[in-house]
Amino acid sequence: MKFRQAKWNEPLLFERSRAGAVGYSLPTTSKSIQKMLQTPLSTVPKELRRKTPPRLPELSEPEVVQHFVRLSQMNYSVDLGLYPLGSCTMKYNPPMNEEIIKNPQFTQSHPYQDCSTLQGILRILFELQQWLSEITGMDQHSLQPAAGAQGEFAGVLIIRAYHEERGELKTRRQIIVPDSAHGTNPASAAMAGFDVVVVPSNEQGQVDTQALESAVSKQTAGLMLTNPNTLGLFEQEIETIASIVHKAGGLLYYDGANLNANLGHVRPGDMGFDIIHTNLHKTFATPHGGGGPGSGPVGVKQQLAEYLPVPIISFDGAQYYSDFDRPKSIGRLHGFHGNIAVLLKAYAYIMRMGWQGLHAVSDYAVLNANYLLKRIEDIKGFSIPFASGIWRKHEVVVSAKPLERDTGVNARDVAKALLDRGIHAPTFYFPAIVEEALMIEPTETFSKVELDRFVEALQEISNQAYTDSNLVFSAPQNTSIKRLDEVKAAHPRTMKLSWRMMQQADDKPT
Ligand SMILES: Cc1ncc(COP(=O)(O)O)c(C=O)c1O
Repeated sequence: MKFRQAKWNEPLLFERSRAGAVGYSLPTTSKSIQKMLQTPLSTVPKELRRKTPPRLPELSEPEVVQHFVRLSQMNYSVDLGLYPLGSCTMKYNPPMNEEIIKNPQFTQSHPYQDCSTLQGILRILFELQQWLSEITGMDQHSLQPAAGAQGEFAGVLIIRAYHEERGELKTRRQIIVPDSAHGTNPASAAMAGFDVVVVPSNEQGQVDTQALESAVSKQTAGLMLTNPNTLGLFEQEIETIASIVHKAGGLLYYDGANLNANLGHVRPGDMGFDIIHTNLHKTFATPHGGGGPGSGPVGVKQQLAEYLPVPIISFDGAQYYSDFDRPKSIGRLHGFHGNIAVLLKAYAYIMRMGWQGLHAVSDYAVLNANYLLKRIEDIKGFSIPFASGIWRKHEVVVSAKPLERDTGVNARDVAKALLDRGIHAPTFYFPAIVEEALMIEPTETFSKVELDRFVEALQEISNQAYTDSNLVFSAPQNTSIKRLDEVKAAHPRTMKLSWRMMQQADDKPT
């Protein structure tokens, strides 16, 4: 299958705008529309009236549709093929979920309605809280956070509230994270006002318990850990780790990003964790919210329940209601009940899978990762760092260091060359403890056919690198956009995110 991405020289809607073009037509005979059009402007206070009409693009309806379809064809999505973005994990988003959330009983209800008229939706949220607690081994959940990272932040605020109430916050200033941690962990800890202490991994790629022993003290507020870790390795000494931290008076935070590896097999609550967030997009097949419009519920053991963000959905034996009466809560993190559309999708997914289905999800996720590990091990130029004999869980981190040493082709070049073959790049250069890292997470979603296509693509790239490396350096060629200037593309000063910003910039489009 030869991949060629559609490429349109598609202007902005503002640039396509033609004066007088309209995207609607209303029946002028309709009385209600006539009334609306005749509503006197004088009802709007003078100071609020615009002096000039808003500058909106003027286009016909088909022109708008064409515009967005063309842009979508220049894009890549999980619905097109493999998306092995380790740690950030894109699983499929079941179309059935989209249908479910379109139900008018959801779309036409409003959180300001009296709760007696919202019993159905409140019951769903209540049950989701309970299911997440059951799945993770926690006692209570709040569905408020809008992303994994916000769930982490909520968790660290709970750690803070706990130590504050015990009068120990002044001394307990440190949060420990392993050197394989996702960047959001230290960021959340720092945002909540803690100092970050990093513990190294041992030769097996797991937390070095001796180093942890020497890192903990009366200053320890808690430890943030994801298990399996970002190398895809299960922390086998998790019980020792938990006891070291607990003995020092700290709390254990579980970053639930990798929960899909454990589903139905082991529960963070049983491993000794006190707090968890779950990235619903990683484990329960909801869309990844890009840092905001997703969902990252936070769950805790009973001793921390009173600090959870409000509202908690409760049941008094007769009806479901939003419980705000929790004086020790860290407060609100989101409007109303959290990101309802995402929560509904996770609920529908869990219901469809059942306990056995969830168990199978992690079986397949782990099988797929290990299948890739075994096949990639044999490709020249790639090595598997840390504990080569140990099975991975949901993801495998490969090093392209030998390839770079032999041919000059590095992990970034490999990632770009995969794009040319119609495969989304894995995460690269993370975790930082692996040189030339390619972090590959196939998830349970993709079939063996698709995984084989990925392996063949890597094999082809290795062959090219050893025979004519220039071919790899010049990748991608078949995508709508070639190599981006990554520094420029990520720099807020150079990004122009609105038409107004583009107009104000010196390099206006011609
Ligand atoms: C290990 C880990 N923790 C936390 C996060 C943050 O989650 P989110 O992207 O939902 O904010 C990620 C995101 O990819 C992750 O991989």
